[in-house]
Amino acid sequence: MLRSTNKRMAHSEPMRWHGDRIVILDQRRLPQERVERTLCDVGDVVDAIVTMAVRGAPLIGIVAAYGLVLAARHGRASVLEAAHMLRSARPTAVNLMRAVDRMRAIVVTASDHAIVQALEQEAHAIAQEEARANYAIGIWALQLIRPEDGVLTHCNAGALATAPYGTATAPMYIAHEQGRAVKVYATETRPVLQGARLTAYELAQAGIDVTLITDSMVGTLMAQGKVHAVIVGADRIAANGDTANKIGTYTIAVVAKAHSIPLYVAAPTSSIDARTPTGAHIPIEERDASEVTTISGTSVAPAGVHVYNPAFDITPHHLIAAIITEQGVIRAPYEDKLARL
Ligand code: MRU
Repeated sequence: MLRSTNKRMAHSEPMRWHGDRIVILDQRRLPQERVERTLCDVGDVVDAIVTMAVRGAPLIGIVAAYGLVLAARHGRASVLEAAHMLRSARPTAVNLMRAVDRMRAIVVTASDHAIVQALEQEAHAIAQEEARANYAIGIWALQLIRPEDGVLTHCNAGALATAPYGTATAPMYIAHEQGRAVKVYATETRPVLQGARLTAYELAQAGIDVTLITDSMVGTLMAQGKVHAVIVGADRIAANGDTANKIGTYTIAVVAKAHSIPLYVAAPTSSIDARTPTGAHIPIEERDASEVTTISGTSVAPAGVHVYNPAFDITPHHLIAAIITEQGVIRAPYEDKLARL
């Protein structure tokens, strides 16, 4: 198992820490090109997060944490300033805020001479915790999928969003490692096409049976009996279980409910935000109109057309069959169970 994991990691590893710089796989260029980009300071890190060269809730938390190690070389005040910039780089994924807050807590207590080392240790801890959570989520989630089930996923909650197994994809990778057949349907995920460019790419690279569909085909596949479960990731889970995830998740949840197909949210506990009571309180990032008016740089809309581009939506808790974290599977009512996590 370890051998196949290492092989897959080598291909889908989204970032590496080199002590004085971060090397990322530029996810905007996939799958056509595997281009690495070096981030030397916090400005580079913020830019990579904002432009989605790195993306996915756990990964942006990890990269931000290492970004603060880079800032620490310029002193304590630089870390606090960088923390502020990083926190606001993308507003929806709570993993980003949580990672930055953990690092800030270290800055407050560490002595001047030990600050870089202490921050580096904390960044390693965050990265390792997310990696461990991936595997545990996969083991729990696998119990919810029967052999031969068709499993639909949306966006990319895969190894590219948090190595090595991803969250929503973790049961797929583990089933594959165990020699169990798994059939995955990946939505293309307009407007930025994370499903087509990233999920289809990384699962196909791993040899997993993945079929790409457009977002508008979900209802038809469900009506045809091809989909038995939906597994998605999360950018933030509110205290009542309402979940922010990539735009389109809510639509899929409604259609899944109409077909009595369970929709599972697979996310680490770092995605749970007990301080946000419901989905209505989660800030939803709005991104540039060009993401909607173009596809791969080619314009597909009339110049100057009005555009609305929320990057995430809220799936209300009553449409979620279960939330799978590294600590296990929880079902409604969520509030008390999430609070205990
Ligand atoms: O805008 P993105 O690509 O960062 O959005 C990513 C998602 O919505 C993922 O589903 C979520 O972050 C979970 S990643 C494990």
